[in-house]
Amino acid sequence: MRSDRRVGLVPTMGALHEGHLSLVRAARAQCQSVVVSIFVNPLQFGPNEDLAKYPRTFERDCELLERERVDIVFAPSAEDMYPKDAVTYVTVEGMSEKLCGKSRPGHFRGVTTVVAKLFHIVEPELAFFGQKDAAQCAIIRRMVRDLNFPVEVVVGPIVREPDGLAMSSRNAYLNPQDRKAALVLFRALSEVKNRFGQDERNAGRLVEAGKYVLAQEPAARLDYLEIVDPGTLEVVAEIRSETLVAVAAFVGGTRLLDNILLSPE
Ligand code: PAJ
Repeated sequence: MRSDRRVGLVPTMGALHEGHLSLVRAARAQCQSVVVSIFVNPLQFGPNEDLAKYPRTFERDCELLERERVDIVFAPSAEDMYPKDAVTYVTVEGMSEKLCGKSRPGHFRGVTTVVAKLFHIVEPELAFFGQKDAAQCAIIRRMVRDLNFPVEVVVGPIVREPDGLAMSSRNAYLNPQDRKAALVLFRALSEVKNRFGQDERNAGRLVEAGKYVLAQEPAARLDYLEIVDPGTLEVVAEIRSETLVAVAAFVGGTRLLDNILLSPE
């Protein structure tokens, strides 16, 4: 597929796992040159979030990327990326305040600003993102469209642990007890999927079914469980076309995300 296109970019914050590597492999299969960026982007972290303790495993990341035959690892410093007096941002208005944007004000502005900068620096023809961060994918697609970036956004499926937990660099924060409790996100989504399979099309009732499962796990604190249009992130009332069910919850002190797509056909 499209191996005539030259440069593929996989933006990451490092602490790489199979989810990241699945995107690297997709890029390797579709591009002549593969660039992986590793940058823990301060602009997308809130003042009370985990920027300082975010896992950093640079040596190991480089070994993994070498094995995947990545051509370039781009790992700038924060000073390289952001001049001290930088005051220019990219914001996808409206969408950036939805889902994670509600509880993490400024988060998506940080994401779109750094991704826009990476697109300018690397000039990829293709850029690879994971469905794990479904809202991020929708917001980046909108930015690319609105600002005419000559980049094709490719979205790869969620890679999960054998028991269903979506892989995430933040899973490293979970102690064994929390690791078990973390499965409740996947259980809640599975319950929504089952009800949908039994022909429930009312989003409100599906949300309630998912929230009920989450409420059974005392170690989990719900941030949101929403059923939205995957392109606009607007809440839907009835499921008539492909729809995104997205959940975020704190387990212990760790904020975890997961989602599924429901398709009526
Ligand atoms: P990070 O969390 O490191 O994720 C990098 C890419 O890997 C994202 O596109 C994310 O959706 C994808 N990814 C993470 N876990 C995945 C999984 N289990 N399955 C499939 N893909 C997965 O997302 C970011 O970094 C940052 O916001 C970034 C886009 C790099 C901007 O700073």
